[in-house]
Amino acid sequence: MIAINDIHKAFNKGKANQVNAVNGISLKITDGEFLVIVGSNGSGKTTLLNLVAGSVLPDAGSINIDNNNVSKLADYRRSQWIARVFQSPMSGTASDLSILDNFRLAAIRTKHKGLSIGINDAFKQEVKGKIATLGMGLENKIDQPMGTLSGGQRQALTLLMSVMDSCKVLLLDEPTAALDPRSADVVMRTADKLIADFKLTAILITHNLKDAFNYGTRVIQMSEGLVLRDLNNKQKSDLKQNDLFDWFA
Ligand SMILES: Nc1ncnc2c1ncn2[C@@H]1O[C@H](COP(=O)(O)OP(=O)(O)OP(=O)(O)O)[C@@H](O)[C@H]1O
Ligand SMILES: [Mg+2]
Repeated sequence: MIAINDIHKAFNKGKANQVNAVNGISLKITDGEFLVIVGSNGSGKTTLLNLVAGSVLPDAGSINIDNNNVSKLADYRRSQWIARVFQSPMSGTASDLSILDNFRLAAIRTKHKGLSIGINDAFKQEVKGKIATLGMGLENKIDQPMGTLSGGQRQALTLLMSVMDSCKVLLLDEPTAALDPRSADVVMRTADKLIADFKLTAILITHNLKDAFNYGTRVIQMSEGLVLRDLNNKQKSDLKQNDLFDWFA
């Protein structure tokens, strides 16, 4: 469970250009919930995600993950719970290193238990097996540099790497924004499958209202640093796709 309690974050505090990016949000996100966040540019979505991840620390309020108060913990100290995928396929992986080496780094970063780190055969086979589940044929390219892959392929692999450990929370900030529609579709379906398979608690920020409609078990709309709408699974499944567009009218 992620418990966000009356969290506030302002930038340029006390100056003429102060922005109250997150302005007193409280949310309880239960285990296995897949929360989709929509909202206009500048409504505070990324700031909220950064507050959960710890790359931005709050001015006031608290965040608990599984009853641990993480409010003051830096992001790297939250990585035992949290994995994160960014908008750019170039973030999160090393272009010059092979797919296999990137998986090795990911395993080291998260101190994956029971995974023998090193370029030995067992590790290689395990990585190949995991990559094969994507159904993209990338298991035959594990010695190829990450930088030679398409954005969609990279994003799918980044997703897989990010959930290899026992992390419980997956944060996705517009993971498909830089991708063509077909690759975006592959990445969204991969994310959805991994979230279900690994029973992750997930937060997805998207401007793609079709994705917001098709994925997730709850949807919130943010506006000016606040939660304007909050629909549970039942209310969300009762939505018609046009309803989401109407929210932005
Ligand atoms: N590091 C920062 N310094 C100053 N202002 C910031 C900083 N980060 C965010 N802001 C401001 O806070 C507000 C919320 O930004 P945020 O990035 O959270 O919005 P967003 O909802 O993710 O927008 P988008 O849909 O464009 O990604 C914006 O006005 C933004 O300019
Ligand atoms: Mg953003």
